Amino acid sequence: MQDQPIGIFDSGVGGITILNAIKNLLPNENIIYLSDNFNSPYGEKSNEQINYLSKKNTDWLLSKNCKLIVVACNTATTNSISYLRNLYDINFIGVEPAIKPAALNTKTGSIGVLATKGTLSSQLFNTTSNDYCDNINIIEKNGDGLVELIENGIYSGNELQKLLNKYLQPMIKSNIDHLVLGCTHYPLIKESIEKILPDSVKVLESGEAVAKQTKKILKENNLLNQLKSSKFEFYCNSSTKTLENLLDNRYTINSINYE
Ligand code: DGL
Repeated sequence: MQDQPIGIFDSGVGGITILNAIKNLLPNENIIYLSDNFNSPYGEKSNEQINYLSKKNTDWLLSKNCKLIVVACNTATTNSISYLRNLYDINFIGVEPAIKPAALNTKTGSIGVLATKGTLSSQLFNTTSNDYCDNINIIEKNGDGLVELIENGIYSGNELQKLLNKYLQPMIKSNIDHLVLGCTHYPLIKESIEKILPDSVKVLESGEAVAKQTKKILKENNLLNQLKSSKFEFYCNSSTKTLENLLDNRYTINSINYE
């Protein structure tokens, strides 16, 4: 079982930011990446719809013999990870907005969270935020429209800058010193985000934490790959263009008929 692949899914290219962190920490692992970009964005969907898609993606990855599933999407994790864990026996690793380190390290007492509507309205996000942010001012913004631009390969430019200004200026006015990127797509536009923020604001993402947790769980379950195979397979159920441009050209992206 050790040389079976890790399965990773997201609603599009965002999960590549998680895949990269896992690849760095676990260079021996075989990985299968599923981009459900036909159903993107997940952020505006209901909890039931997100459960349905998360289960469908899991079934698909399990049909490819994956030994562990990484839900590389904050929206799917915060809405559906308990649902998935109740349904299957295998291990799931999720990604959640890094509000805990932001809350523990803030000096101004004010932190910003940029995430999808689905994440911000989820029970899991609200429980974590109540647990860690008691005396902290959290400014939450739904990054409406950002995932769509990123899925079209747009990481900079006027349209993006205009949206980011709308979301980030109120946070800057509230004197945040940490900005939590609560969507795996957003590290792809980190440069554009940092152009707007003062240098004093630290931008937090979750990739490294997810990779560490993946390693820990594989190790505990004696599932770390002992062979140096590191084979990668990428699957997309809509346009492959943005993923192709993001990855280096030694990888092929398979188009699948899966809605
Ligand atoms: N990458 C997903 C996340 O982390 C994007 C959600 C979406 O498709 O709206 O939340």
